[in-house]
Amino acid sequence: MPTAQEVFGGGLAVVTGAGAGIGAGLTRHLAGDLAMTVIAVDVDAQAAHRIADELGERVVPRVVDVRDPDAVDRLACQVEEEFGPVRLLINNAGVEQFGYLWDVPPLNWQRVVDVNISGVFHGIRAFLPGMIAAGRRSHVLSLASIGAVTSVPLQAPYIMSKHAVLAMTECLYQEIAEIGADIAVSAVLPGLVESNIFSAAGGVESGDVAAAEAQRKRMLAVREQAMSADEAAENIVAQAARGEFYIVTHPEVVHAAMSARADQLANHRAPAPHRSRFAAPEQSR
Ligand SMILES: NC(=O)c1ccc[n+]([C@@H]2O[C@H](COP(=O)([O-])OP(=O)(O)OC[C@H]3O[C@@H](n4cnc5c(N)ncnc54)[C@H](O)[C@@H]3O)[C@@H](O)[C@H]2O)c1
Repeated sequence: MPTAQEVFGGGLAVVTGAGAGIGAGLTRHLAGDLAMTVIAVDVDAQAAHRIADELGERVVPRVVDVRDPDAVDRLACQVEEEFGPVRLLINNAGVEQFGYLWDVPPLNWQRVVDVNISGVFHGIRAFLPGMIAAGRRSHVLSLASIGAVTSVPLQAPYIMSKHAVLAMTECLYQEIAEIGADIAVSAVLPGLVESNIFSAAGGVESGDVAAAEAQRKRMLAVREQAMSADEAAENIVAQAARGEFYIVTHPEVVHAAMSARADQLANHRAPAPHRSRFAAPEQSR
């Protein structure tokens, strides 16, 4: 099996949401360990520049909102012109949302759809034609989640968006196979990884605000068991190098969720009451 160094070493990567969490871990691993040039894309200018300052000239910060298709198109043109063909595209930017579905403000719903779903589509739309035309082996990874194969109350917009990313990625895999391009397509399904996602998540303004905030608190509490972003990044990139379609950071937990989902569908079962796969510290004692 080829190593990450053999597959990616010295190439060009584009990582969206590179300023924090998993994206920052990926950027550190790709630029630091694999000597890739990394275009670190983030809507948060400070975060994009911070990661570039930390890692030096191999990281090129770009302040782009993945919700804006024209801005992502312009980014792709500039990157291809200035740096050449992209070997690794990682559609990573994503946001969370807490609260009962009927309490979620429409703007927060739209934000999740625009960032988590359309953001991935915009990345594919902007970069894939150049990657296909380059005719060289390249990779495209999109961040779904363990949430893509399960359901979780009080996080419905997020979970829905991750199911969508997984479905989009499966279709993309088939389309790339159909045209015979040498592009490895992968869906990344992380478990809990250290990041800002729960503190940065949207909440609700009316209705059951307490329930939304209690769910945020639960997720912040289980975060203590999270894998470091650097370890997650190394796992993700190693699996990408091997050409895996389903890339997971927590194999046992994700495979259990996949089996439960398969069983639910095959047996036409309604969703079971939710129990977190990541027990809070006090529950696990
Ligand atoms: N951390 C986890 O436990 C976990 C688990 C499963 C899946 N994921 C997925 O991993 C990805 C990264 O999440 P994270 O946990 O590292 O989050 P994070 O909040 O720590 O980092 C996300 C980054 O994306 C950026 N971003 C947000 N909106 C953007 C936009 N419109 N355009 C460009 N950049 C934008 C943010 O500024 C931030 O720097 C997400 O897609 C998330 O759903 C995370």
